[in-house]
Amino acid sequence: MSFIKFEKVVKYYNFGDLKFKALDHVSFEIEKGEFVVVLGPSGAGKSTLLNLLGGMDYASEGSIYIDHEDITKYTERALTTYRKDSIGFVFQFYNLIPGLTAYENVSLTRALKKDALDPKETLTMVGLSEHINKFPSQLSGGEQQRVSIARAICKNPKLLLCDEPTGALDTETGTKILSLLHGLSKNDGHTVLVVTHNSQIAAIADRVIKMRNGKIAHVSVNQSPLKVEEVVW
Ligand SMILES: Nc1ncnc2c1ncn2[C@@H]1O[C@H](COP(=O)(O)OP(=O)(O)OP(=O)(O)O)[C@@H](O)[C@H]1O
Ligand SMILES: [Mg+2]
Repeated sequence: MSFIKFEKVVKYYNFGDLKFKALDHVSFEIEKGEFVVVLGPSGAGKSTLLNLLGGMDYASEGSIYIDHEDITKYTERALTTYRKDSIGFVFQFYNLIPGLTAYENVSLTRALKKDALDPKETLTMVGLSEHINKFPSQLSGGEQQRVSIARAICKNPKLLLCDEPTGALDTETGTKILSLLHGLSKNDGHTVLVVTHNSQIAAIADRVIKMRNGKIAHVSVNQSPLKVEEVVW
């Protein structure tokens, strides 16, 4: 079995008396160490898919296997351990703690894992070495986004889930961040999923998952992905 396997996953959101089907029998597989790009229009279910994979929320139906274990069967406690030990998550809306500096926001994850990286080093990796003592309110949107990326990387997770990690970045900075994430998969063996609206990124991906209306529209495996330098951004 693959490292990640979604089997007929359905997710309903309830609001009031209504039920909205955000994921509709989603099935796909991902191998260990792959760099995967998830594409699709707004509302397609990309964040929902990432949230389920990251153990942030429960599926309504179906199975999600990670390393042979079905996480949909996990108790709340087992799911917390899974998030703590296995997942690095870059949230679409950053989710930084306002009262803590960039350094402190990143350091928090170090307490969670023995093999976490050095917070200062990861902040330097995302180009923020001069901003480590600033609070989120003193940082630009793109800088806050990069703190959230550093926080996820610092944890040294086996599964790195990034929800539009370059949404607030200019092209040059965005490209640097993507090469960094790509390198974590290619050089360090992490499995990395990136949700994005930038379809050019698909050229460097090992696998591209296209979503539409809560369904998988298409999955393609790239036999010879381009190197980051080969892509014209
Ligand atoms: N908590 C919720 N309650 C009700 N509906 C929700 C909830 N969260 C998401 N949805 C709906 O589920 C669908 C999928 O949402 P999701 O956030 O996964 O989309 P997305 O592909 O990430 O979109 P975007 O590109 O805009 O971030 C949307 O139609 C959204 O309105
Ligand atoms: Mg989203």
